[in-house]
Amino acid sequence: MLDPIEFIHNASSISKKSMNRLKLKTNPFSEKPIRGNTKFFVGRTSELSEIADILGAAQYGSVANAAIVGTKGIGKSSILNILYYASKRHNHWVVELEASQITARQFLIQLMYGIIKDNLFSVDGTLSSDYMKHSQKIIEIYKRLSNYSDKTPVHYPREKIERDLKYLLNEVKEENKLCVILIDEADQFAKRSCLGLLQFFHSFLYEDDILTFLAGPPTMVEDLTKISPAIRDRIPKIINMPPLTKEEAYDLIKRRLEDSQITGAKGYQPFSEQSIEKIIEECDGIPRRIIMTCSEAVSLGLKNGVDEIDDEIARNAMKNLGISVGHQILNHLTPAQSKIIKAMAELGGSSTVTELSGILNNSTGTIGTHLSDIYEMGYIYKERDGYNVYYTLSKELKDVLITKEDIS
Ligand SMILES: Nc1ncnc2c1ncn2[C@@H]1O[C@H](COP(=O)(O)OP(=O)(O)OP(=O)(O)O)[C@@H](O)[C@H]1O
Ligand SMILES: [Mg+2]
Repeated sequence: MLDPIEFIHNASSISKKSMNRLKLKTNPFSEKPIRGNTKFFVGRTSELSEIADILGAAQYGSVANAAIVGTKGIGKSSILNILYYASKRHNHWVVELEASQITARQFLIQLMYGIIKDNLFSVDGTLSSDYMKHSQKIIEIYKRLSNYSDKTPVHYPREKIERDLKYLLNEVKEENKLCVILIDEADQFAKRSCLGLLQFFHSFLYEDDILTFLAGPPTMVEDLTKISPAIRDRIPKIINMPPLTKEEAYDLIKRRLEDSQITGAKGYQPFSEQSIEKIIEECDGIPRRIIMTCSEAVSLGLKNGVDEIDDEIARNAMKNLGISVGHQILNHLTPAQSKIIKAMAELGGSSTVTELSGILNNSTGTIGTHLSDIYEMGYIYKERDGYNVYYTLSKELKDVLITKEDIS
């Protein structure tokens, strides 16, 4: 039997050896949140300058709250985080909050907690001397909040919460400072439990020294407006986050690789040009996808003990992550729909309702209904040939279901 110490020693030396082959110290694509560290932050010049304009104008009283919108993994939280540090550098009050799964009351509590803890206290955890003249009241509020977050039952009614919050903003905050409120996952406000909060927010989305940024998916503003129509006027700016350009995506990969390179490996490129091209093309400029795919490719490369990540490894990485559009479509289909799609693939990618009904042992009516649903979603094409209607898989589905080897 293998000595366990020996086992660990051997196994870890192997992985160290593989790392050395790729000339890397660590996997450069393991999650590294931005958190004020801008070393890996690429692009976004126009979004950043829009944000700078908004922040600049707000200091002179023209507050325009903004929504930062974009698809999953595009970089909304990252840009909010940069905004957090930029606001700090201006000596504004700033609070970073998440709206997810939170009731209106909890949200307000966290908002106040953030205001006090991140802005009124010094790093050593004591009240900053700037706010000494309000110390008694601030400490009193802080104690109430701490009790609340300890989950001990404490009587802190909503009106009192709002009164304390207004006290902090109107009495304690210096007039020359903004209170910048950053709310991530703000689409959650569209939930019923937050309706009251949204209404309350209205009143203070009009204050000229409170600047709010809400981050969320592309439909966020529309969804919030449905719940509370007036909100649209109070969020006059919408910053849309587009995908990274090819160059930016390339830069993102390169910066992380360079940072993890072992000394003396300067200039060594562990990814082949083709593999990078492939990853960039498949990931549609979405930073999280790029990072995840590269991370998976590095792990595969280490497992296989290679000294270069070629496009086959890149392809396998994407396969493992199911990141291609085709895979996403498959994930999106109901079990009945995906059965049909798979049967179509077995028939070479194109078939009639009758053929499918034969294979799947189901009525033509049922199959026809499913097919028209899938057609509506745009995942298959329809073509008439005499009396027959042929359904054909989209290119993306063919790519995942009918492998290249099958065709040749
Ligand atoms: N401009 C950028 N440069 C480099 N890396 C970035 C950039 N934007 C985002 N990333 C990285 O991409 C990943 C996803 O970013 P982030 O979490 O900010 O996206 P998100 O839009 O908030 O996603 P979600 O929709 O899930 O909330 C993170 O690992 C982040 O570090
Ligand atoms: Mg996010």
